[in-house]
Amino acid sequence: MDYMQSEEEKSKNGIHISEDIDSFGDLGKEPQKDHPIAVFDSGVGGISVLREMVKEMPWEDFLFYGDSKNAPYGTKTKEEVRVLTFSRVEEFRKEGVKALSVACNTATSAAVRALRQTYPDLPIVGIEPAVKPAVTENPGGRVLVMATPMTIREEKFHKLVNRFQDQAEIIPLPCAGLMEFVEKGKAGTKEVREFLRQLLWEYIEHPVDAVVLGCTHYPFVRSDIQKVLGDQVKIYDGAKGTARELHRRIRAAGLERDDKNRIGRVVFQNSAPTKSKMALCEKLLCQK
Ligand code: DGL
Repeated sequence: MDYMQSEEEKSKNGIHISEDIDSFGDLGKEPQKDHPIAVFDSGVGGISVLREMVKEMPWEDFLFYGDSKNAPYGTKTKEEVRVLTFSRVEEFRKEGVKALSVACNTATSAAVRALRQTYPDLPIVGIEPAVKPAVTENPGGRVLVMATPMTIREEKFHKLVNRFQDQAEIIPLPCAGLMEFVEKGKAGTKEVREFLRQLLWEYIEHPVDAVVLGCTHYPFVRSDIQKVLGDQVKIYDGAKGTARELHRRIRAAGLERDDKNRIGRVVFQNSAPTKSKMALCEKLLCQK
């Protein structure tokens, strides 16, 4: 099934952004090639993963849902995050999607295993802090992992650290309060850099070799982190790897679209859909 371009549809930097989920048509529930790919985050952070997915598979349609009303997830309990994630995925299922990316490290550690058990027919890809490339490229170095308190508390993260801790010094840093700057559109401001200077003072005095951005909001303050810590620090995030993994999974499930010449569309939904939030979503997707 092909789609009709709606009036509201915009084309920015070659990306079609549509405001209307009905524009996908009535597609039924079982995953099919012409369904959109669902991308979920606690807020706008997952757009750092979405933009890599659009680059990787520009012919696909994407439905991005940010739960900004309930954000932050990182300071909630695992059970709360699991309930919020499941209730959104139920909606995706009703709308008809062919794959799911949980573009949130926090929701991945809380819910991805249970989601896979509940929806075995749906390719589901989560995201975890990019510790592996950071350690591999900085053997014996000091690797700072910035993530939400929940991600750092969870067993999934402890297992990840255990796998690599003999190869580098891995330093976990819970960063409560940082994602809020991105949600408020305050990346790149003096305010966020002041917050980062206080959060990272120890690593300004005793430098690290690498920083892993273990929360999908943080790539939007990557240049602020770089400014605060200095140019010598290498910064890693998992967005590209996740986009590639999603592509592999969709291909393996036989769900990739046949027409690679079409330009897919992106629809944004948010639980706090103010004008400024929706404008921020578009801005973050289109920014380099
Ligand atoms: N974007 C989410 C992540 O990757 C977390 C932000 C939040 O605390 O809600 O972990």
